Amino acid sequence: MLRIALDGPSGAGKSTVAKALAKKLGVIYVDTGALYRTVGLYVRNKGVDKNDEERVISLLPEIDLGMEFINGEQVITLNGVNVGDTIRTGEIAMYASRVSAIPEVRNFLLETQRKISRENDVVMDGRDIGTVIIPDAEVKIYMTASSKARAERRYKELIAKGESCTLESVLADIELRDKNDSTRKTAPAVQAKDAILLDNSELDIDGTVEKAIEIIKSKVEI
Ligand code: DC
Repeated sequence: MLRIALDGPSGAGKSTVAKALAKKLGVIYVDTGALYRTVGLYVRNKGVDKNDEERVISLLPEIDLGMEFINGEQVITLNGVNVGDTIRTGEIAMYASRVSAIPEVRNFLLETQRKISRENDVVMDGRDIGTVIIPDAEVKIYMTASSKARAERRYKELIAKGESCTLESVLADIELRDKNDSTRKTAPAVQAKDAILLDNSELDIDGTVEKAIEIIKSKVEI
């Protein structure tokens, strides 16, 4: 089996790199953040306060979450409806960050993630893939960049999309999410002991993919 756990903070470029790696290696790309975002979307749509843990937990039995791969593309369904890009907003990212700190939510999403990694070769991107979801992954990479580098990339993306924001507000959002994600009690977003660090503050996407391939080659034959 070839299971590559790609963990790291928001905005390190994990999804872009993971997609490129999956394509090169002919394995599927699994974006686990999308699952937390989908739970966040449901909580928001129900008008429930994301900080109200008890109410968030009480919604879980109402959620039927599906994850399929159509032509290699991950499709997430929420009670039978494809969530598409509705989970890709800053607001939903904040809901995802809050709900992902709740142990019951993490537990709710655990088996979906493990099942996919048992049945397929994967590049799986998330926060606790190497520590919790696939602790025996063949390759573990912890990909990060300075918060300043991540904020600058995100800022450029948002401006290109026509959203209005400031670099300061983007940096503040990233730092708040980093803090939430790394200090929560359950499965905090930290580097696994046996993960290899890939800091791409000074690298572009191609350079990062190249470096990741080197790391993979140092662990398995590809
Ligand atoms: O990678 P992302 O931005 O789509 O993730 C959304 C949120 O979900 C992020 O705040 C951290 C959380 N998350 C998590 O706790 N564990 C994962 N495996 C993936 C994401």
